[in-house]
Amino acid sequence: MKNILLGVTGSIAAYKSPELVRQLRAHGFSVKVVLTESAKEFVTETTLQAVSLNPVRSNLWDKEAEAVMSHIELARWADCVLIAPTTANFMAKIVQGLADDLLTTLCLATKAKIIISPAMNHVMWKNTAVKENKRTLINRGISIIEPMIGDQACGETGIGRMPEPEFIVETLINKIINFDMPLTGKKVLITAGPTREPIDPIRYITNRSSGKMGYALASEFRAAGAEVHLVSGPTNLPKPENMTLTLIETADDLLQAVHENIDDVDIFVAAAAVADYRPTIFHKNKIKKMKNDLTIELVKSEDVLASVSKLEIAPFTVGFAAETLRLKEYALKKLNEKSLNMIIANKVGPNHGFDQDDNAVHVFWKSAGKVFKKMPKTVLAKELVILITERFKIDVGEASANSSNITSIR
Ligand SMILES: Cc1cc2nc3c(=O)[nH]c(=O)nc-3n(C[C@H](O)[C@H](O)[C@H](O)COP(=O)(O)O)c2cc1C
Repeated sequence: MKNILLGVTGSIAAYKSPELVRQLRAHGFSVKVVLTESAKEFVTETTLQAVSLNPVRSNLWDKEAEAVMSHIELARWADCVLIAPTTANFMAKIVQGLADDLLTTLCLATKAKIIISPAMNHVMWKNTAVKENKRTLINRGISIIEPMIGDQACGETGIGRMPEPEFIVETLINKIINFDMPLTGKKVLITAGPTREPIDPIRYITNRSSGKMGYALASEFRAAGAEVHLVSGPTNLPKPENMTLTLIETADDLLQAVHENIDDVDIFVAAAAVADYRPTIFHKNKIKKMKNDLTIELVKSEDVLASVSKLEIAPFTVGFAAETLRLKEYALKKLNEKSLNMIIANKVGPNHGFDQDDNAVHVFWKSAGKVFKKMPKTVLAKELVILITERFKIDVGEASANSSNITSIR
């Protein structure tokens, strides 16, 4: 996920800031807000905290906040500093290189790109001092989202209005920063976690999947700009941000949730460990301990992955194979038999795969494959999303096969 530090200064246009935060989050950004003292006259910390889901800061001397994340760490955290609205006063302060409050200090301490969206009365905007400050800021590499012409809060009409949040976000993404979001406009459906197949109201059959790999992939797809829908079995993981989450329990629930949401999906990733078999009978009441032996008859569950890859208009379909033996052989069999675009195979067993923070995988597709050595699942997820995106783009004709930097291992 990309991090945006949103600075809000003391302009009447600050009333648009909560909506700006909402729209940035809807585009997959993580947002932390810093207010100047004057901004607090126009918008509350409470509102911005509620919409950003992060603590809002304004005071450089806040000991508790500094202990959690110092202003230098905050400056480093940002991939981009967006100041919207920016007052005439604040423009002058950054031109001067002042560091007399938290936001000015952050502007000096960050290496991230700074973007300002000035908002002021039209006479102020045309003032020579403001014009000269604007030129200086441009010369220093600060990007300016030009104010618009329109009715102003002072009752006059002219140039100086802050553009609407939607326009600011679009300008930011499409014109100013290459956020490297190659999946913008694409839809990804991903399954994660285990399923639970009930035996009676108390017992169920499940597996050791923790959901960590699927959740990490979902976050990385979101960071790559995709609209993500995660269908998850029961896990202990926190609800992921900025995506649709459907919670399911059984393999049947998962099948239904997937097919209800598969229309228009560009990439389907089946990372869930779906039960291959479920009890034939669900006992309405608890099975009592009586006989020495108890047999539970199982029936095969429908194959979710194959049901998607065999659709008439199938998305780019990525399966997972968790194997204890003959990894490559079984993975390739699954790839071919289920007509998948790609398969991610990993060895499972004690200290491998399931319920671990690290993972090592072999990825195979029609013509080649790639090995990823053991690494944290969060890092691996990033690498896998790059590879899936690359193969997907070649498949749909949005990139050339030569752009691949893949080592052939097949
Ligand atoms: C009601 C009201 C609205 C204001 N709107 C603006 C504005 O849109 N743009 C601006 O540059 N200054 C505006 N100001 C003046 C700033 O709030 C003032 O210059 C302040 O010192 C800015 O502090 P800051 O840059 O640290 O946030 C306004 C002041 C008031 C009282």
